[in-house]
Amino acid sequence: MSRKPIIAANWKMNMTPSETSAFLEPFLSTFSEPTSVDIVIAPPFISLPKAAETVTDNPAVALSAQNMSHEASGAFTGEVSAAMLKEVPVEYVILGHSERRSLYGEDDAVINKKVKATLEAGFKPILCIGESLEERDGGQLEAVLTTQLEGSLADITAEQMADVVIAYEPVWAIGTGRTATPEQAQETQAFVRSVLTKLFGDDVAGATRIQYGGSVKPGNAGELIGQPDIDGFLVGGASLDPSSFADIVKAGAAG
Ligand code: 13P
Repeated sequence: MSRKPIIAANWKMNMTPSETSAFLEPFLSTFSEPTSVDIVIAPPFISLPKAAETVTDNPAVALSAQNMSHEASGAFTGEVSAAMLKEVPVEYVILGHSERRSLYGEDDAVINKKVKATLEAGFKPILCIGESLEERDGGQLEAVLTTQLEGSLADITAEQMADVVIAYEPVWAIGTGRTATPEQAQETQAFVRSVLTKLFGDDVAGATRIQYGGSVKPGNAGELIGQPDIDGFLVGGASLDPSSFADIVKAGAAG
């Protein structure tokens, strides 16, 4: 089954509104026509309106938020709702990133509420999962990923899965310069797909895009995208430079 690769820039807590414009102007001139991959940029909330202004009418690039509240409105200081993101607008929302899980205590139950809220609002969640080095070395890899998938995707229907992207990000590869080898990433992502088969059946599992994330760079993107179960990337550090992110997109498009 052919799946359109999706290459996303997760800027994390980087890029002010003016830095966002300075990035997007050269980047968008490289990608002004639709390409064979979906390109997604996820700036911090404060920079999203500037990104939306700059991206307008560019058919190649979509925007993503890095998080969203599952609550509709009210007394939730510091949170951002679906209605607010609709006015930007964004198409995707990253959920369950390992930094949200480890630094802000988000668990699968909360992430599941957020996945439901994003789908109900018409957004496409990019659901992040991944194991720590301790879990991998301790033989817990499959149990951890299964628990994260079952918990985060509880009560999601096969139809709704058409809008869900999974990002497999081994925690030990995030920001460390230590990428999973193409074989490790492939083996793990094939396992993730097998869990999706159990939960939703072959058709859904075959159609779901599974990104790899963790120290993706222009130099390793080509080899990674060549793996059959890697359908794109969620890129942190290397997405902060327009030419390096453009090279990763090009590697994804060539793969
Ligand atoms: P790095 O590409 O900086 O390792 O970050 C990966 C990541 O966490 C993307 O969400």
